[in-house]
Amino acid sequence: MTDLHTLLLRELGPEIVCSDEALTRDCSHDESEQAPAIPDAVVAPTDPLQVETLLRLAAEHRFPVTPRGAGTGKSGGSVPVRGGAVLTLHRMDHVLELDPENLLAVVEPGVTCARLQRDAEAAGVFYPPDPASLETCSLGGNVAENAGGPRAFRYGVTREYVLGLEAVRMGGERFDVGHRPVKGVSGYDLAALLTGSEGTLAVFTKLIFKLIPRPGEPGLLILYFPGLQDAVRAVTVLVQRRFFPMALELLDRPSLEAARGPGFAPPDDAGGALFCELEGLAGDEAIGRGVLDCLADAGCPPSGFELRRDPEGAGAAWDARRDVSKRLKARFAHKISEDVAVPRALLPELVRNVGEIADGLGLDSACYGHAGDGNLHVNFLTDKDPQGFLAAVERLFRITLLLGGTLSGEHGIGTLKRRFLPAEHAPAALAMFRAVKRAWDPLDLLNPGKIL
Ligand code: LAC
Ligand code: ZN
Repeated sequence: MTDLHTLLLRELGPEIVCSDEALTRDCSHDESEQAPAIPDAVVAPTDPLQVETLLRLAAEHRFPVTPRGAGTGKSGGSVPVRGGAVLTLHRMDHVLELDPENLLAVVEPGVTCARLQRDAEAAGVFYPPDPASLETCSLGGNVAENAGGPRAFRYGVTREYVLGLEAVRMGGERFDVGHRPVKGVSGYDLAALLTGSEGTLAVFTKLIFKLIPRPGEPGLLILYFPGLQDAVRAVTVLVQRRFFPMALELLDRPSLEAARGPGFAPPDDAGGALFCELEGLAGDEAIGRGVLDCLADAGCPPSGFELRRDPEGAGAAWDARRDVSKRLKARFAHKISEDVAVPRALLPELVRNVGEIADGLGLDSACYGHAGDGNLHVNFLTDKDPQGFLAAVERLFRITLLLGGTLSGEHGIGTLKRRFLPAEHAPAALAMFRAVKRAWDPLDLLNPGKIL
């Protein structure tokens, strides 16, 4: 038992401070390539007062605290790399308010994304953000990472839905930021600052989300193209011609192979595919026809397509799509996954470069993801020595920035992309990042070793 564990047991009690080895091991990693780190103590509060106490003790005794949602992160954000306490918020999992009249929900941070989606749907309203891990990931983690997902294409990322939140900063002070009405411009927008701050500025104990009216029942149009370039060009064509599907996702050939399974059998000759989720398609087949006509008219018709208008058929294909990351991992001995984003019309340039980088280094690659947003999960893969990964990632980041892109569209910087931050941001901007961090957490105790 560590000294920290003993101290916390005394102050918070055995109900809140875990002695469970399995949970401690769980709290040592996320779903990224970041090496695990076992924390000195794990605290699982059920009440904001316990979060206050922990952060007061941390400032007094100077130990690090790493906040944790459900551990589904992809950049090392919840790994306690400097030891200390992990603050896991999974037990604070109540939906406190669901208010269709005012189109808002108030939840605790441990509620899963899918739970809020289902509760909203039952109340006749809609919560759009849909990260691939939606069944297990927590909303606190979604806000900390400003999570995206396929529907970000039409509806925007998590930040668009955070009206306000209750936060506790290092030292134990708890306060509200943001507002409940959909409009509110009083003071600096601290809710927006905290969203995407990766647990480095404050711990969330309550979240106020905006909801929107439910769209018409969607269906899925899967478009197959002869080559990857045809598929990515079709993205720009659709947007230029003012088609804004609910989601517009790309899968290249290796990703299609990974997705293949009982519920999804792509044709062997497809070099790429787009998953095009269309509002109202479930009830009206003609909506799919419009997309096909548009592509034919623009001279880039798909070589094949599938219309999945029933929820089961569409759901099976979406499950396959959401599983691509895990299935690629199972197919190769080594995998490194990035989530760069470029201005959408430059995607053809990006995927051409990915092919060249992989070929040049003797690696396999797979590109899939949120093409409508210009945000791709670029994976380098190999069964041999993975030493080429470093050069591959450096080259990928260089071309991404040359194209005016960003190193992370949705997974965050965490530990894994920290050292690349100066490549994207000017020294003055980095100095401002550090000043913000100092203002919230001068002792660098809250999720240290992340982002900066
Ligand atoms: C996805 C995860 C990896 O889109 O973000 O599948
Ligand atoms: Zn994604």
